[in-house]
Amino acid sequence: MTSAHQGLTGLLDTEAIRKDFPLLDRTVHDGKKIVYLDSAATSQKPRQVLDALNAYYERHNANVHRGVYTVAEEATELYEGARDKVAAFINAPSRNEVIFTKNASESLNLVANMLGWAEDPYRVDHETEIAITEMEHHSNIVPWQLLSQRTGAKLKWFGLTDDGRLDLSNIEEVITEKTKIVSFTLVSNLLGTQNPVETIVRRAQEVGALVCIDASQAAPHQVLDVQALQADFVAFTGHKMCGPTGIGVLWGRQELLEDLPPFLGGGEMIETVSMHSSTYAPAPHKFEAGTPPIAQAVGLGAAVDYLSAIGMDNIARHEHAITEYAVRRLQEVPDLRIIGPTTAEDRGAAISFTLGDIHPHDVGQVLDEQGIAVRVGHHCARPVCLRYGIPATTRASFYLYSTPAEVDALVEGLEHVRNFFG
Ligand code: ALA
Repeated sequence: MTSAHQGLTGLLDTEAIRKDFPLLDRTVHDGKKIVYLDSAATSQKPRQVLDALNAYYERHNANVHRGVYTVAEEATELYEGARDKVAAFINAPSRNEVIFTKNASESLNLVANMLGWAEDPYRVDHETEIAITEMEHHSNIVPWQLLSQRTGAKLKWFGLTDDGRLDLSNIEEVITEKTKIVSFTLVSNLLGTQNPVETIVRRAQEVGALVCIDASQAAPHQVLDVQALQADFVAFTGHKMCGPTGIGVLWGRQELLEDLPPFLGGGEMIETVSMHSSTYAPAPHKFEAGTPPIAQAVGLGAAVDYLSAIGMDNIARHEHAITEYAVRRLQEVPDLRIIGPTTAEDRGAAISFTLGDIHPHDVGQVLDEQGIAVRVGHHCARPVCLRYGIPATTRASFYLYSTPAEVDALVEGLEHVRNFFG
């Protein structure tokens, strides 16, 4: 093992943590130990979450909010208990502000559709504007494009600086008196950039615009306090934070959730239904039509317990140390260009890069042959690639189980890629 990472401080006891994650123990390509560096796409799952899913299906499986029998009541308690856990995890003032969705994309689409069907003062129409940024994931672009096409509202964009940060120099032109909503990512999935929430929220509040934050790349990695963020909506997904797929969260301010209309109609989101019209249940149920992702919510609750026991501050400190080390080591690789901030300050643990003119798909394939799993492509954030004049990047992303030795493996793997392609 190289000594390059000796002296790193703030690291978690990854030897113990990795024992909780069965997949990290597997091998690929004839016995090569997997080096999993794709947690920004999805995290691995600890045994505690897998056990909670199994226990739910083996002992408590029934539909929720419907049955009066024991198992149905247990299922409801588990599902609503998961809501309590998530509410505490994000410091929500009320559990009723936590809506379970399928994923962050659905959460963001829900906000766009709430506003799309809203009455004044929230109505979005051809006289109003929506502000987003060039570093958004497609899930925080396309719903706003759809809303803009449907209503005639103007979509405005914050651009990016050369070093991968938001260009807020024209904030007063992007967020104006006409702006109804500002939606932006807390941490970019491609660049890793952590955005200055306060500055954007302050300007939005000046003009009375709502603020929606995509926290998909933040919730797994740092303390997420929705009250401190002062946003109106915060969206994130379970599968990037040790939970199962198929469960996302939308947090929204209670009075907004009371005022805004539902998007999906169906069972359990109503108060009464007649042949002429319906009235709706209070939030969060108003926004959870049909049988919800019950087992997935229970799994997310177990993930929240798992992360909380380790401590989000400790996880953030660990990832900061790993990211600092990775940024430094990667810049030692000849021809490697980091797309995004080149220091560990105000950035998350996803690092995108190009390697000379070797196509990222080739980089990814040769790394895979060595057991190293990274994501390649435009990462569902194509406007970022267009901004920096590149078709794609290779992205390595780290989590609480990542080790400095895995950073070393990546750097060695990239040397091998360079040799392979001459
Ligand atoms: N949004 C996920 C990523 O960035 C899938 O990879």
